[in-house]
Amino acid sequence: MEWAALLLLALALCALLYLLGRWLLGLDGDLTLLWAEWRGKRPENELPDKVVWVTGASSGIGEELAYQLAKIGALVVLSARRENELERVKQKCLEISNLSSKDILVLPLDLTDRSSHEAATKTVLQHFGRIDVLVNNGGRSQRSLFVDTKVEVYAAIMELNYLGTVSLTKHVLNHMVQREKGKIVTMSSVMGIMGAPLATGYCASKHALQGFFNSLRPELGEYPEIIITTICPGPVQSKIIHNVFTEDLSKSLDNTGDQSHKMPTDRCVRLTLVSMVNDLKEAWISDHPYLAVCYLWQYAPTWAWWLMNKMGKIRIQNFKSGVDADISYSQKKKA
Ligand SMILES: NC(=O)c1ccc[n+]([C@@H]2O[C@H](COP(=O)([O-])OP(=O)(O)OC[C@H]3O[C@@H](n4cnc5c(N)ncnc54)[C@H](OP(=O)(O)O)[C@@H]3O)[C@@H](O)[C@H]2O)c1
Repeated sequence: MEWAALLLLALALCALLYLLGRWLLGLDGDLTLLWAEWRGKRPENELPDKVVWVTGASSGIGEELAYQLAKIGALVVLSARRENELERVKQKCLEISNLSSKDILVLPLDLTDRSSHEAATKTVLQHFGRIDVLVNNGGRSQRSLFVDTKVEVYAAIMELNYLGTVSLTKHVLNHMVQREKGKIVTMSSVMGIMGAPLATGYCASKHALQGFFNSLRPELGEYPEIIITTICPGPVQSKIIHNVFTEDLSKSLDNTGDQSHKMPTDRCVRLTLVSMVNDLKEAWISDHPYLAVCYLWQYAPTWAWWLMNKMGKIRIQNFKSGVDADISYSQKKKA
């Protein structure tokens, strides 16, 4: 009888562990973020009439941010280099929202042209009178091995992803400090937490952003209503692989491979907005295994380094054979 009870208990425990495992495997964000999504503030209640400046708004995550913000009723500033693409995004924003043309400002901006950032900030302030949220989203990734890559490529990545972001933040922050409120939301990456082959320069630029914003946050301690949020997405569907830096500044990637296995853009953007309105300091937005690797990297780095060695070999093999570097460990690759 005792044995039967023990067996039943063991079976119940196994079933519980199985269900817990299934639940954990289905997560696509860190636990604080998913709690905020479930119980926290909703973007629909917090963002109407807020002025939100999105860089990198001409494609991918920034473009989808523009659409979700417009639908909610936020007033948006769309920035990137390609003005015609920004106009296309503006037209779609107008079609899917109740906004009128003056509620959406198209402001072409090159993040690497730092001398233009002050004037750009003034233009936004002249148009809307304030900036409630800056979303530092513009940036480019990398696919190349260090041994093959020219040093100029590393300089260009830092110039765009790191210095461009710091420069724009500086000008917008001056205004937020005067108002004593505002939010700076920055698109880092899971690569800002972990390291991965083929992206040494990209990882370095995102680590630099993490270090910068984690240091800026406590520097702004006397302004409790100025919020610094860093978003760390894993692989997300966008044009990022088409636009990567390669080993040479004049060369683009020959074969981008299928991107459909990655997290849908709208899901990443929804969780970004949830992070924004709930004032999260850092949010991880990713499917597994990257999400699990983030936790390992944070709490058990020795295991994470061992695992990344294994995953890294596959990543390099995939890259060399012309398929997407991340396709092997995607849960959706056969879907
Ligand atoms: N997709 C992912 O898997 C993923 C994962 C983690 C983090 N992220 C981050 O998410 C952000 C958005 O990337 P995405 O995936 O949406 O890629 P994307 O589709 O390639 O979009 C990148 C955006 O950045 C803009 N941009 C590039 N160079 C610029 C410059 N010099 N000045 C101003 N804007 C510039 C591009 O516009 P123009 O070419 O018109 O200038 C474009 O709007 C990036 O910071 C990226 O690192 C993406």
